[in-house]
Amino acid sequence: MFSLRIILLGLFISTFYLSSDAKKHTRTSGKTLHSQEPVVQLKNAVHGKVFMPVMGLGTKGAGLLDGTGGEYWGNEQGHNATLAWLKAGGRRIDSSSDYITQDGVATGWIASGVPRSKIFITSKIMSIGYDEALKTFDDILASLKTDYIDLLLIHWPGDKPGTVTKPVPACKKDKSTWTDCRVQTWKALEHLFKQKKVHAIGVSNFGVNHLLEIFNLNSLIPSVNQVEFHPYWHEDELLDFCQKNNITFNSYAPLASADHATFLGTSWNPIPDLRQHPDVIRIAEKYHKSSVQILLRWQWQQGIVMNPRTLNPAHMIENLSIFDFKLSKQDMMILSYINHPMSKMFPDPRLIL
Ligand SMILES: NC(=O)c1ccc[n+]([C@@H]2O[C@H](COP(=O)([O-])OP(=O)(O)OC[C@H]3O[C@@H](n4cnc5c(N)ncnc54)[C@H](OP(=O)(O)O)[C@@H]3O)[C@@H](O)[C@H]2O)c1
Repeated sequence: MFSLRIILLGLFISTFYLSSDAKKHTRTSGKTLHSQEPVVQLKNAVHGKVFMPVMGLGTKGAGLLDGTGGEYWGNEQGHNATLAWLKAGGRRIDSSSDYITQDGVATGWIASGVPRSKIFITSKIMSIGYDEALKTFDDILASLKTDYIDLLLIHWPGDKPGTVTKPVPACKKDKSTWTDCRVQTWKALEHLFKQKKVHAIGVSNFGVNHLLEIFNLNSLIPSVNQVEFHPYWHEDELLDFCQKNNITFNSYAPLASADHATFLGTSWNPIPDLRQHPDVIRIAEKYHKSSVQILLRWQWQQGIVMNPRTLNPAHMIENLSIFDFKLSKQDMMILSYINHPMSKMFPDPRLIL
């Protein structure tokens, strides 16, 4: 009887403490092991009602560990992480045609035994033009061993600054901007959407200028924008713009790619590990939570969905367990004021014309 009372009290407290900001975006699914995990309803460019689980699994281990620019997550890591994630109760997986883990994600979700209809898979296509995007989409379906994608994004509004796609896409040849490539790729996504091969379409790394370009087509508005966002680097104006236009804001590198020092292959770490930041540790102690839970909760209280990457099953459970407490306004503000002069982990998409 006593323990039943404790459980009821816990349920009451956790429901009460879901922030009102977050509540605006949610419906509690109650279907995973972590029954407090909410989902957000995507508003634009969706077929019917599309609910996106707040917590996803990142599957790109980018880096220079071997000094060649190679990635240190391959299909083995993609498989193991996806399998463990689905076993832990996670239901969303963040993938891309550009990641070398996609085949592993497929074997992982199949091995889990979780029905495809209960899993939310995101994939992405670079700005490569209409025909190329349609072809890449066929490759994505084959690689992920599925006949539809829940959410398909344009990965970048052009080449990542500092990299050059080879061969240069036909839509870019002889042109100074990536506009044609973006527009053509968006039209390809719209085509796939109309064919119901994708349940929702959106973008990634798009700034306000890139989004306005899509708005001006007078067609579909993206459902999601996936952008780098963490206490070291947060574009609050972009977040505000997206939310005002019903574009769900999906952060990437929510932990500022915590192992970036590893992939830089150096013990000298130009950007200190956010998990060790004194303010984050102090707040974590106050709420009896881990640093990572504080960092993720800070995002969720702003209505942001996220996809931290981890191979560790205990970390997965931790990441799925951020819905039973609430940070005070003051603590939210302290986290928002953490900045670092070299804080951007990925190239700046605002440089892409
Ligand atoms: N759209 C884009 O252009 C774009 C760009 C970059 C990334 N992304 C997506 O965003 C995902 C996440 O970004 P990211 O991979 O750069 O890095 P991240 O998620 O910010 O950080 C990953 C690191 O955090 C650690 N971690 C995760 N959960 C933890 C926990 N509970 N406790 C302690 N440590 C924890 C992981 O280590 P352990 O394995 O030890 O847990 C790993 O070292 C990517 O995988 C990808 O899916 C998208």
